[in-house]
Amino acid sequence: MKKVYIETYGCQMNVADTEVVFSILTREGYSRTEDIAKADVIMANTCSIRDNAEQRIWGRIDYFRGFRKKHPGLIVGILGCMAERLKDALLDSGKVDLVAGPDAYRNLPALLAAVSEGHPQIDVELSREETYGDIKPLRLDKGGVSAFISIMRGCNNVCSYCVVPYTRGAERSRDWKSIVREACDCFAAGYREVTLLGQNVDSYLYEDVDFADLLAKVAEVSPLLRVRFSTSHPKDISDKLIETMARYPNVCRQIHLPVQSGNDRILEKMRRRYTRQWYLDRVRKIREVMPDCGISTDAIVGFCSETEEEFRDTLSIFEEVGYDSAFMFFYSERPGTLASRNYPDDVPQEVKTRRLEELIALQNRLSLESNRRDLGREFEVLVEGPSKKDAAQLCGRTGSGKMCVWTDSTHRAGDYVRVRVQDCTQATLLCEVV
Ligand code: SAH
Ligand code: SF4
Ligand code: F3S
Repeated sequence: MKKVYIETYGCQMNVADTEVVFSILTREGYSRTEDIAKADVIMANTCSIRDNAEQRIWGRIDYFRGFRKKHPGLIVGILGCMAERLKDALLDSGKVDLVAGPDAYRNLPALLAAVSEGHPQIDVELSREETYGDIKPLRLDKGGVSAFISIMRGCNNVCSYCVVPYTRGAERSRDWKSIVREACDCFAAGYREVTLLGQNVDSYLYEDVDFADLLAKVAEVSPLLRVRFSTSHPKDISDKLIETMARYPNVCRQIHLPVQSGNDRILEKMRRRYTRQWYLDRVRKIREVMPDCGISTDAIVGFCSETEEEFRDTLSIFEEVGYDSAFMFFYSERPGTLASRNYPDDVPQEVKTRRLEELIALQNRLSLESNRRDLGREFEVLVEGPSKKDAAQLCGRTGSGKMCVWTDSTHRAGDYVRVRVQDCTQATLLCEVV
């Protein structure tokens, strides 16, 4: 049996895709290895979202090739978004034998067979239908607690800075019945949390089932199964969704709502299709219906022509919302996107870096303030396993997505435990069992 090793980069959807790839390959007689030195096939499932994500992969490709010295027949393959974006350029580099885009994974067994006969292979065809809905993913964390379920693929939004519509193709939703079946399978296998994944979950639509309907169906699998989802688009998150969340105690009170910028001119240029006021109204609605809902975000600083005052609007919207956590980036121009074709990337790198540091410093304070508000409160947390820092402690998340640690020798992964917050850092709630 040929052994396959895969490294996964980028977003959660890539993690879910790697599980699909392993499922396809193990059905065809390959086995999974976690030891790169033993692999017959080494692949990276890649990300193109920012330039540094791609640079990192080039470094890994050189490292993978190093194993050829000891293993002459070794196959090196690139999957995912970078495969889709760079296409032949990857093969032309002479460093890889196989290039397969996100919709080509069913062909991997055939592609690998052809590579074994000495012919490099590429398949970067995008599909309007492929959702891998019928494939039961091979979970990477056997006996795990939390699983990803991909509910749709692609994106139709074309935000001007973003490469995803080009690397993942048109948006399509997976049959809701296969999603509910997968959630049932997860629960039966011992999982106690599923995260429904899509670039814009609010535009999920299969026949007449929209995302709020789907969420309800998954929540009804079992009251003991926690349900999360990501990512929501501020222009599309509906009152129906917010009210559906509130109806099900096992739907976690957490919304990842990427704001990108707090300034209307920049939002318009980014083609986000909402305004600052619209965004703040959505936040108000969420908090009105679920006062305890965690809200996190993504933001980009130094987008084309962003002035200092416009950047201050991003700082002020962070302050106004008081995010629990955030992912923050400086703008990285992506070839082929609307922004790269229409606007010069004209904010100097040192200005981007300084703005990013300022935003991160603000969020660090907001995260700490958010955690301090929870001092003395009780939460039901789902145990994920031993804490990384101290084996005598367990860790798990609140519904709102905050990481808790506490000393405990009686519970184990998959249990629900009631804890009280005694102390906190910016990243963690330090708790005791109630
Ligand atoms: N579908 C999600 C975003 C997925 S990409 C949404 O619409 O919110 C994850 C994050 O990467 C984005 O939210 C954005 O903050 C960041 N990002 C995307 N393109 C980028 C670029 N060209 N430069 C810097 N950050 C970028
Ligand atoms: Fe990219 Fe915008 Fe689609 Fe998100 S919604 S993946 S940022 S194009
Ligand atoms: Fe990266 Fe592709 Fe995800 S570009 S963020 S891996 S959709």
